[in-house]
Parts: sequence; structure tokens; C-alpha cells
Amino acid sequence: MLYDTVVITGASSGFGEAFARHVAEQVNDRSALHLVLVARSVDKLQALALELQEQYQCRVQVCPCDLADSAARSQLIAQLEKLCGQRMLLINNAGLGDYGEFCSSEPERNRRMIEVNMTASVELTRAMLPSMLQAKSAHIINIASLAADLAIPDFAMYAASKAFVASFTEALRIELKGTGVHATAVCPGPVHTNFGDVARRTGKSKKEVPFRKWFYTTIPCVVEAALKAVDCNQPRCYPSCKIRLAGLFVRNAPLWLLRLIMSSRPRKAVPAE
Ligand SMILES: NC(=O)c1ccc[n+]([C@@H]2O[C@H](COP(=O)([O-])OP(=O)(O)OC[C@H]3O[C@@H](n4cnc5c(N)ncnc54)[C@H](OP(=O)(O)O)[C@@H]3O)[C@@H](O)[C@H]2O)c1
Repeated sequence: MLYDTVVITGASSGFGEAFARHVAEQVNDRSALHLVLVARSVDKLQALALELQEQYQCRVQVCPCDLADSAARSQLIAQLEKLCGQRMLLINNAGLGDYGEFCSSEPERNRRMIEVNMTASVELTRAMLPSMLQAKSAHIINIASLAADLAIPDFAMYAASKAFVASFTEALRIELKGTGVHATAVCPGPVHTNFGDVARRTGKSKKEVPFRKWFYTTIPCVVEAALKAVDCNQPRCYPSCKIRLAGLFVRNAPLWLLRLIMSSRPRKAVPAE
């Protein structure tokens, strides 16, 4: 891996933490690596930074930031605009979901989802693009989801936010053609991370939707597939064969069939026992 400046949002857990470890381990020149870790959990970021610095002797910068807060984002952007690597990799990974009907959703939580899943990725990308274009060599990974291709009842806002991420990435990639800057949308299926616990509403219990287990992949599978997609400069990445297959089906099925399937699907949000 050739990158020297790597910014990862949502680096305190799940995919983001795994991206940080993987990049530090796989990068060609560790002494030139500058990792920038963004999330709210300062303690977790600092522990990870210490571990990576000791193990790999790379430079790790911790940038605590609530990406749902526009003033905090502006401060982060001021820091990111000073970065000037030869080969930059921006991984817009931070995100959250909300399981449940839209009519009973909390407006504040919806706002945070919009800000973190969409606005932050757009603003960070816009802020880092000038340096990336100047260096003529950079890559942007936007973590979307298999949900980007499918309207999902009880997950309406989240799926719509990921559709935005995928669409934005596709258009951006075309605009950037010939500049040396590339963009990839990564569309994982379900994976066991903190995501499910964060998405579950207070008072709602865990319920597995039948057949959903079959779709599960692992954190390493997602991270390795995403970084391979960067190496091969692919526009989109569906980690694992089954998710690729599911994506293919969803993108090619008629809307009436998808509506029928989604209307008869067991609901995930159930009252606590
Ligand atoms: N797990 C899945 O099944 C799955 C499937 C498809 C796509 N995805 C996507 O993958 C991405 C990573 O999720 P994950 O599965 O790794 O979940 P996770 O373990 O819950 O990680 C989410 C990360 O986002 C950060 N984050 C959340 N809100 C934030 C905020 N307001 N400001 C700054 N950082 C914030 C969290 O850090 P702090 O809490 O420390 O701020 C954490 O580091 C998300 O975009 C998610 O939508 C997940």
C-alpha cells in the first residue's frame, strides 16, 4: 500500500479501527505514514494511537470530533486542510443507524444521522480535495452499505443516507477522472460491530430477522475488500461473494418485486420483552 497520509473517521471501533490497524500493518513505508484518527471517543483513539505508534513506529494523530456538530467539523477541517501528503487516503467511515419506524423516530437522532452519514463526508471530502488534486494521487473511500441499493422499512433514514453516499461517490469519481484522485463506494452487508447496539432504540430488544444471519460477513473481510478495491481502483466494492450477489439481485430486480419483498419481510424493531 502506497499511501502516506491516511485520514479515517469513526476510527474508535468497528471498521474504522480495523482500517487503522490494517493500513499501519500493510503500508510500504511506515516511517512516512501519518495516520489521522477521528471519532468522539478520545480514550479509545489515544489507546489505538499509542498501540500503533509502538508497534509500527508510524505517526498517529488523534483528532477528537463530534461529526454531528458543525462547529466541531469546522475545527477538524481547519486541521485537515493543513495536511499535505504526496498520496492521501481519506476513509469516510463514521456512521450510525436507527432501527424503527420513521413516525416514532427522534428528530435529533435523525439530524445526527444526516450530519454524520452525509454532511461530514461531503465537507471532509471538499476540504481535502484541493491538496489531493495538487498531489495528483489520492483515493477517497466512502463507506456506504448494501442498504444504499434498497429502501428498507424500519431503516428508512439510514438506507436513504447510504443511497446518498453511493450516488455522491459515483458522480465524484466521474468528475475526478484524469486527475489522479479516485473514489470508491464500499457497500458492506451486515457485520457484527457496535453498529447494531447504537442503532437499537431504547426499550427495544434484539431480534434476528430470519435468514439475516446468512448475510453476515466479518470486519476483516470488509476492510481487506475495501483496500483491495482501492489497489484495483474499483468504483464500488461489495465485500464477499454473497453480498456481491445480493447487490446484483437488488440492483436488477424490478421495483414492484422489491416492494413486495420488503413489505412481507419480518420487522426488525420489536418491543422489549
Ligand atoms: N456493521 C454493519 O453491519 C455495517 C454494514 C454496512 C455499513 N456499515 C457502515 O460502516 C460504518 C462503520 O460502522 P461500524 O459497523 O464499524 O460501526 P461502529 O462500530 O458503531 O463504528 C462507528 C464509528 O463511527 C463513529 N461515530 C459515530 N457517531 C459519530 C459522531 N457523531 N462523530 C464522530 N464519530 C462518530 C464512532 O465513534 P465514536 O462513538 O467514538 O464517536 C465509531 O468509531 C458506518 O458508516 C456504517 O453505516 C456498517
